[in-house]
Amino acid sequence: MVFEQMWRDLAPVGRSAATGGYHRQPWTAVDAELRAWFREEAERRGLAVEQDPLGNLVAWWRPAGTEGARPVLTGSHLDSVADGGAYDGPLGVVSALAAVDLLRERGTVPTRPVGVAVFVEEEGSRFGLACLGSRLATGQATWADVRHRRDAAGTALEDALAAADLGDDPAATGPDGLRWGWLADVEAFVELHVEQGRGLVDLGAPVGVAAGIWPHGRWRLDVTGRADHAGTTRMEDRADPVLTFAMTALAASKQARLAGQRATVGRVEVHPGAANAVPSRVSAWLDARADTEEALAQLVAGIERQARDRAARDGTALEVTAESVSPRIAFDADLAQRLAAGHERGGWPVLWTQAGHDAGVLAAAGVPSAMLFVRNPTGVSHSPEEHAEVPDCLAGVEALADALARLAA
Ligand code: GLV
Ligand code: MN
Ligand code: MN
Ligand code: MN
Repeated sequence: MVFEQMWRDLAPVGRSAATGGYHRQPWTAVDAELRAWFREEAERRGLAVEQDPLGNLVAWWRPAGTEGARPVLTGSHLDSVADGGAYDGPLGVVSALAAVDLLRERGTVPTRPVGVAVFVEEEGSRFGLACLGSRLATGQATWADVRHRRDAAGTALEDALAAADLGDDPAATGPDGLRWGWLADVEAFVELHVEQGRGLVDLGAPVGVAAGIWPHGRWRLDVTGRADHAGTTRMEDRADPVLTFAMTALAASKQARLAGQRATVGRVEVHPGAANAVPSRVSAWLDARADTEEALAQLVAGIERQARDRAARDGTALEVTAESVSPRIAFDADLAQRLAAGHERGGWPVLWTQAGHDAGVLAAAGVPSAMLFVRNPTGVSHSPEEHAEVPDCLAGVEALADALARLAA
């Protein structure tokens, strides 16, 4: 089966032999392999591939007579978080190509162009801004905003992009040059994604439809103290930023738990990183999510308040910078209903998600957007444990093909 073949071809790309997890960062050699895989699959199907200067890709199926009609878009992303799972992103791209195959097998000829998109740096795992590709494509960020961002190795985005040698220089395309103007004319964007929690397992359904996305964001916390000797400095004479950080991480977890929200500190850097020195500085990244924008603002303000109180006690200085904030997204209700009702056995369940997606960014830009989720039996994501069974994936492909057939009819 073609779906399984594509899946097998992608499986080794960027996989760690030690953990089985994936390292698929944008503008790397692994990224080049992923791009080459996508181009080959698109060309095999006779789809015309378009790439923007940032590396966003779209493969077009344009049957005769569809010229001038508003396109229908599907797809997802191929990048991963560090040591991520196989499904988050790639399942949506593989399923989109498989859905095109299925429509052709059924003899369905769309009356609109159908595009399969691959958005770059969805996870923000390299340059810290989630959905970087779709934000630029929709004009919700500009090249000037992002070009100087640096990765963990200190490489600037503009240099990483130049080294990847994708072709066009984004700076030369003008302030608006990274915008995919045609997105404004898209009839609908449907992103299929592995579910990243236990919603569908609990509901006993292989496929679901997303109602919307919780507001969420990332905040960088820089705590500055004073480097000193671990042995000769009395405990009461220290300004230790790790203490401020540790208490902030505990406070974040407790506040989120009490409020039914989410807070995570998934990345931390301790400077200079010597076992026998009181550290000089800690940089930590807070990821916070809540069901309303008000609740999110309250949660982050509450965490910041406790962090500042603690910093005052520790004699450290705290700086908080919002790195990216995504609003609450309610997907197009009419579109979601049509997707949910499309299943002849009485409809797919509709559920909210706490994870960010390119579909959320496109929705925020006014593109009618919706998402299909495929059951994840482990309920685990952003981890090598992430999984989906083949029959559920095939149910997802069918649901996507049905959706595309109706939207492009
Ligand atoms: C993206 O996957 C996110 O929600 O972190
Ligand atoms: Mn993800
Ligand atoms: Mn994803
Ligand atoms: Mn995501």
